[in-house]
Order: sequence, then C-alpha cells, then structure tokens
Amino acid sequence: MEVVITSETGQAGRIGAQIVTDLIRKRPDAVLGLATGSSPVAIYDELGRLVQAGELSLAHARGFMLDEYVGLPEQHPECYRSVIERDFVAKVDIESSNVHGPDGSSNDIQAACAAYEKAIAEAGGVDVQFLGIGSDGHVAFNEPGSSLASRTRIKTLTAQTRADNARFFGGDVEAVPQHCITQGIGTIMEARHLLLIASGEGKAEAIHHLVEGPISARWPATILQMHPHVTVLLDPSAAGRLEHVGYYEQTYAAKPDWQRF
Ligand code: GLP
Repeated sequence: MEVVITSETGQAGRIGAQIVTDLIRKRPDAVLGLATGSSPVAIYDELGRLVQAGELSLAHARGFMLDEYVGLPEQHPECYRSVIERDFVAKVDIESSNVHGPDGSSNDIQAACAAYEKAIAEAGGVDVQFLGIGSDGHVAFNEPGSSLASRTRIKTLTAQTRADNARFFGGDVEAVPQHCITQGIGTIMEARHLLLIASGEGKAEAIHHLVEGPISARWPATILQMHPHVTVLLDPSAAGRLEHVGYYEQTYAAKPDWQRF
C-alpha cells in the first residue's frame, strides 16, 4: 500500500488524473471504477480540465459505478447515477452509455446485482478503481460487518452513514434511503489498481485503521491491505492519526522514477 500525504491544494487531483492519463495512453478503452461522494471530485475536475485542454480523451473509456441507493428514481438529484453524470460524465468526453451503475430501481434486486457482476466481468474487470472511505470505515457502501469476500448485493446503511450523507438531502436524515446496492468487497478487490482518496479530520480514524490497523470486518476498508496495488491519497488532516507519517513521506520522496504508479 502506497500512502501519499499531499501538501498542496489540488495535488491529490493531479496525481489521480495522472494515473488515469498513464492508463489511457496504454489502453484507450480502459475500465474506470467510479466512486461518488465529495472525495473523488478533485480527480474528476482535473480529468475534466485535461479533456478540455485536449491533453486527454476518455472517448473510448468505460465506467462502472460502485454503488447506488435503492428506491430513488433516476431523476432524483442524489441518485448516484445523477451524481456521476454531474460530477464526472458532464466534465469529460466519456459516452454516458458507456457508464454503468447498479439498478437501484429494479423490482428484482438480486437479479440486478447478479447482472451487474456479470457486466463488470464481461468488460474485463476494472483497471483503476477510485474509492472514498466512510467515517465508519466503509468502502462503497460495505458497512462494518460486511463480509470481506462479499459480491454486489443489497446493504442496509448504518445510522452514521445516513447522518453523514444527510448533507446531500438538505440535512434530512429521513430522506436518506435505508438501503443501497453496493459492489461487494470481493468485487472491489478484483480491480487491478485501487486509488483511495480522503481528506479532513473526520476521516482520520478510518484512515488509521485502513493503513495501520488489523484487518477486520469492523473496519471494512482494512481488507485493502491484502491488495497488491493500492494508492492512498491523503491530506494532512486525514493523515492526522497515522503513526508512521515520517516513513510514508520518506518513501514517497525516495520513490524511483521508473516505479511511477
Ligand atoms: C458514500 C459513498 C462512498 C463514499 C463515502 C464518503 O457513503 N457510498 O462511496 O466513499 O460516501 O463520501 P465523501 O467522499 O463525500 O466523504
């Protein structure tokens, strides 16, 4: 796991966008794993800037979203499909029809989950998966107690996650759906490169567990320790509870040029 503690505004977005740019150069039809929430927006903004400047094209890229609320109509502004259209698709030149998400309005949730797993596999799997982290240690919507081998399925959101996400629903916790469909932890772990981004003090405890804690379903993100290629981009506040900050900084500063990401 590579931990990068950024010191300049915009640095995390630039590093994330560089990873995508390098990937697209090698593979124009790469599969991007798209996360919602505020954390990946810096990367999406930078990708948008590169596309507008003619330095990058995602015209052949494909995207798979991590998760979706159950029961919100597609037109709802907080339905994750709408969020990803707004935060990502609208800024770059990816085809909206090449961006896929779990169907949270399906009458048959189990079939929708199985179909989503199949679609990811048929696309050849995810090349780079963007991830945020919940303050309770969730990735996507895999709440504490999630099986570390789980696949795409329905989950019930914790009170903490609903409270955290109420800010997107006018502060009304009751308006935040109780259920979601989320890629499982086993699904996420099959992506070839995981890129997790976190900022702010509210994430510091979860980040401490992710990087330095024991692997446990209590903090689902800790399973990332078992993945061979993980990049964690943090601002100093999110890194505030890490014990080995000096080592992470030293490692990044001494990173061989050939190693890149
Ligand atoms: C939601 C999403 C997660 C996201 C998390 C953190 O619960 N399902 O994918 O990582 O929120 O969001 P934010 O980046 O806004 O803090």
